[in-house]
Amino acid sequence: MYEYQKDKIYFAQVANDIRELAAEELSELGAREIRSEYGGVYFNAEKEALYRTNYSTRLASRILAPLMSFHCRTTDELYKKAKKIKWTDFISLKKTFAIFANVSNSMINNSHYASLCLKDAIVDSFREMSGERPDVDSGDPDIWLNLYIRKDHAIISLDTSGGSLHRRGYRKDSVSAPMQETVAAAVIKYSQWDGSVPLYDPMCGSGTLLCEALMHYCKIPSGIFRERFGFEFLPDYDKPLWTKVKKELDRQIRQLPDRLITGSDISPETVNIARTNITHLPHGGKIKLDALDFKESEGLHNGVIITNPPYGVRMGDRQTLDLFYESLGDFLKQKCKGSSAYIYFGEREFIKKIGLKATWKKPLKTGGLDGRLVRYDLF
Ligand SMILES: C[S@@+](CC[C@H](N)C(=O)[O-])C[C@H]1O[C@@H](n2cnc3c(N)ncnc32)[C@H](O)[C@@H]1O
Repeated sequence: MYEYQKDKIYFAQVANDIRELAAEELSELGAREIRSEYGGVYFNAEKEALYRTNYSTRLASRILAPLMSFHCRTTDELYKKAKKIKWTDFISLKKTFAIFANVSNSMINNSHYASLCLKDAIVDSFREMSGERPDVDSGDPDIWLNLYIRKDHAIISLDTSGGSLHRRGYRKDSVSAPMQETVAAAVIKYSQWDGSVPLYDPMCGSGTLLCEALMHYCKIPSGIFRERFGFEFLPDYDKPLWTKVKKELDRQIRQLPDRLITGSDISPETVNIARTNITHLPHGGKIKLDALDFKESEGLHNGVIITNPPYGVRMGDRQTLDLFYESLGDFLKQKCKGSSAYIYFGEREFIKKIGLKATWKKPLKTGGLDGRLVRYDLF
């Protein structure tokens, strides 16, 4: 019996800043006994909840099913333990696999070498049995395995998501600084927007925030375009149960009212990219998009503004950016009365340039940026 079968505990990899938010989401999806750890949350789930969380989570990057954990100080020990796993339970000769290793504060200190040892154990197990071996494909494998070693404690897991869940499949085209989908989903969740008032992104870029808002409102499962999940390779995979879970969640998808979600961007090419991405999603055609400088926009009274303004060198010198953020503050004050605005700042120093009193600020790091999400209530 593998570890996940014994105690039904899984690990959801989640960015540290949004673990609390993810714990709430996972609990809504049926996870129990949620416990926060560095890099994610542990939770207990029956198979049905495991399938549901994989199909619907907007905040977790992957969900790992631990197969075996053990004290491990040398790569020799790692190899020997790994050979005890009956790898044919998960991998067949026709399938490809890849190993992702993360090693810290341990005698084994090279994650690449550790992953090679695990790979050798798997390949040798097959060779000894049949003389043949499955192939490794680190780009797009059928089976993703995870090796985590911390303080000389190793955990070998199967990635039940089958690759990072932030790849929703709607991003057909991109711009230079797109938001990561899980971060955009966190922004939408922090805003508590429920569709009772309109939502507007005046600097929509490739439309990530709009896509996540649409998926949230219409209850579109985050994995709607995913062709295969890693849990399909678990030995106790229950296909009829997965079909049932998927059907139930797909049935909940609802229409998007006209003009509930709108977006604009100064660049016509970028708006075209956003349109391509958004219309890929069910009901995406109902989102109104315009090529418009936000200063020329009518704004939005009594609604929700959610946006991720530009930052960094691409926008030119500091003075230009300072003026840009001042004018964004003026736009919100004058054209968005009665609205709440959620602005994601890639660089914190611009928060003071906007000239508005923040209701709250939340750290939200992403892709090496020490970003902040700031809420403003505009009267
Ligand atoms: C950081 S990007 C937004 C990225 C977006 N969240 C995404 O996921 O693709 C900022 C966007 O602001 C747009 N922009 C810059 N100045 C603008 C202005 N004055 N009015 C409207 N959009 C503007 C840029 O064209 C760019 O697409």
